[in-house]
Amino acid sequence: MTVRHFLRDDDLSAEEQAEVLRRAGALKAAPYSDRCLEGPRAVAILFDKPTLRTQLSFSAGVAALGGHPVVVDGRLAGVGTRESVPDTARVLGRQAAAIVWRTFEQARIEEMARYAGVPVVNALTDEFHPCQVLADLLTVTERKGSLPGLTLAYVGDGANNMAHSYLLGGALAALHVRVGTPAGHEPGTAVLQRARELADAQGGSVAVTDDPVAAVRGADVVATDTWVSMGQEGEKDTKAGAGSPFRPFALTRSLLAGAAPDAVALHCLPAYRGLEIDDEVIEGPQAAVWDEAENRLHAQKALLSFLLEASA
Ligand code: NVA
Repeated sequence: MTVRHFLRDDDLSAEEQAEVLRRAGALKAAPYSDRCLEGPRAVAILFDKPTLRTQLSFSAGVAALGGHPVVVDGRLAGVGTRESVPDTARVLGRQAAAIVWRTFEQARIEEMARYAGVPVVNALTDEFHPCQVLADLLTVTERKGSLPGLTLAYVGDGANNMAHSYLLGGALAALHVRVGTPAGHEPGTAVLQRARELADAQGGSVAVTDDPVAAVRGADVVATDTWVSMGQEGEKDTKAGAGSPFRPFALTRSLLAGAAPDAVALHCLPAYRGLEIDDEVIEGPQAAVWDEAENRLHAQKALLSFLLEASA
């Protein structure tokens, strides 16, 4: 039996990503039409970092699929300190149908997947946030009809998990992905290289620039994210303080005005108004942030259903 995991966006092929998005749309229309966790089978949902949307959307989603969500506080479990990752993985895998984990280094979730024996889902690591990008792609599909050929501009911290997942997930969806970020905050070289390969194969493209205006020019979608990701709190003064190099990359009304007139503005939340996004943008008519938050639920249900079916 092959166990399928979702540790990074490109763990799905382009066709599989499209299938998950199609299923997500179907589940949004008929929320209880898929009972793949009937039993109820348990899904372990572990958090080593703060959460709101992810805990709710996975818990509600597992329940709606007929299963039983078991949320585990990472501080209690002490994964990697109290008990090694391989030991934890084998214990969880004997009792849960799937494991969902929000943690720090990507290597931790890769190790979990090697030992779990059941699908492991990345609910955010330092390197990737692929579930959010599935939700975002669903949101853009709803707003724009289809994905291939659209331009998605991301402005902000080009080295963070959202930037990396937009690059991979966007390339798989045949988007033209542009990352606008200050020098020294570019995406990881290996991720960029992989995104280029995927974009070449699918007909999209990827580009990185330190010019925020050029990044968003004519874009169909403009996305941003906090400048200080979870785990980087010690860098708050340099990344978000008065001399922050990210200031010109803030998603203001004037920056958004350079995108397509009907551009959609995205933010994965939590948002820091007045820093990476202005109040008038997030509360304005082009923002789709509450749809993104809701679509976490539908996209993750579709993903779990797909992974369980593909692993059977
Ligand atoms: N880049 C952010 C995303 C939050 C959902 C972080 O890692 O904190």
